[in-house]
Amino acid sequence: MRKFLTTTAMATLMMGFGGFAAHAEETVEVLHWWTSGGEAAALDVLKKDLESKSISWVDMPVAGGGGTEAMTVLRARVTAGNAPTAVQMLGFDILDWAKEGALGNLDDVAAKENWDTVIPTALQQFSKYDGHWIAAPVNVHSTNWVWINKAALDKAGGKQPESWEELVALLDKFKEQGITPVAHGGQPWQDATIFDAVVLSLGNDFYKQAFIDLDPAALGSDKMKEAFDRMTKLRSYVDDNFSGRDWNLASAMVIEGTAGAQFMGDWAKGEFVKAGKVPGEDFVCMRFPGTQGSVTFNSDQFAMFKVADEKVPAQLVMASAIENPTFQSAFNVVKGSAPARTDVSDEAFDACGKKAIADLAEANTDGSLFGSMAHGHANPASVKNAIYDVVTRQFNGDMSSEEAVTELVAAVAAAQ
Ligand code: GAL
Repeated sequence: MRKFLTTTAMATLMMGFGGFAAHAEETVEVLHWWTSGGEAAALDVLKKDLESKSISWVDMPVAGGGGTEAMTVLRARVTAGNAPTAVQMLGFDILDWAKEGALGNLDDVAAKENWDTVIPTALQQFSKYDGHWIAAPVNVHSTNWVWINKAALDKAGGKQPESWEELVALLDKFKEQGITPVAHGGQPWQDATIFDAVVLSLGNDFYKQAFIDLDPAALGSDKMKEAFDRMTKLRSYVDDNFSGRDWNLASAMVIEGTAGAQFMGDWAKGEFVKAGKVPGEDFVCMRFPGTQGSVTFNSDQFAMFKVADEKVPAQLVMASAIENPTFQSAFNVVKGSAPARTDVSDEAFDACGKKAIADLAEANTDGSLFGSMAHGHANPASVKNAIYDVVTRQFNGDMSSEEAVTELVAAVAAAQ
């Protein structure tokens, strides 16, 4: 009886303010691929933040790291005339949807909150189209990281590898320990994520010429052959069951100590943190040997689609909530990424998070910050997928390094 009265009284009160119907409509439908333990924990920070602002969340998860599957589902939804309110999206994909005229306009909220000054220009090039804000960046990840089991590293002498040769020596020691040296999931985007780091380890200029400029001379060079040779070497350190394995299960192997190291973006740290692991005690984060001081970044942004007028207010509340500095800190501490604003303190972040933030600032100043090929920040999807295809076939032993180089040049030319 008491419960009934309370509910009735509340409904009457809300209707009296004319707010009940409006509140019921304040909903955002969000398409994303954050389905691993660490990713879901981070997403929960956003869901709760919006709930506290009376916005309810309609979840549209599409599993599949890197978002390939999510982008296929999105295409079907938009074609059916049923775009979600907001979609987790990477780099060039955002610009492609903007070109199609499918995205909304965040200019008012961006102007009011001064996004132009606090969001780095490296991100703005994907959050704006034709001078208008179309997406709200939530973080900055980077792909050139190594995640190492601390006990296994200590057993191997404790020294973090600083060069390719030292990395190979460490992986050999992991083999001697009887653990899987490299925890990897054989999916094209994961192979490509390693390739980001391997190509960068052969030089900033080389990475830029090959992946940003798509220079056929760099793509077809001896250096590129060396990159593929390195992939072959790394392939020799993965276990027999790597094919198709999800990235978070590979992280779990390092967390549990059945594997020594994983080459993966810093979303992997979200898994370590979720498992209660502490950097420096249970695991070590370091830049892929030879890439210290450089960063290959990707930024998750929420692209805001054109939706019916009554859905726009909730969409704008979501955009504003994402850029709030307090939220940026709370979310990125859990996600493993750096904030998408330059004015967020690193105080709440662990040692790896502090390093991510410092590395990013330094790379940005030094001109050693590059968009990640593997995560859609170097090229449009057509070119990215062409590179994925060659990298995956070579990694799986279907072709030699020489053939891979020739195929890479041809595939990139055909995709442009
Ligand atoms: C990346 C994305 C990250 C993480 C990862 C694995 O593309 O930027 O936030 O979700 O995929 O799913």
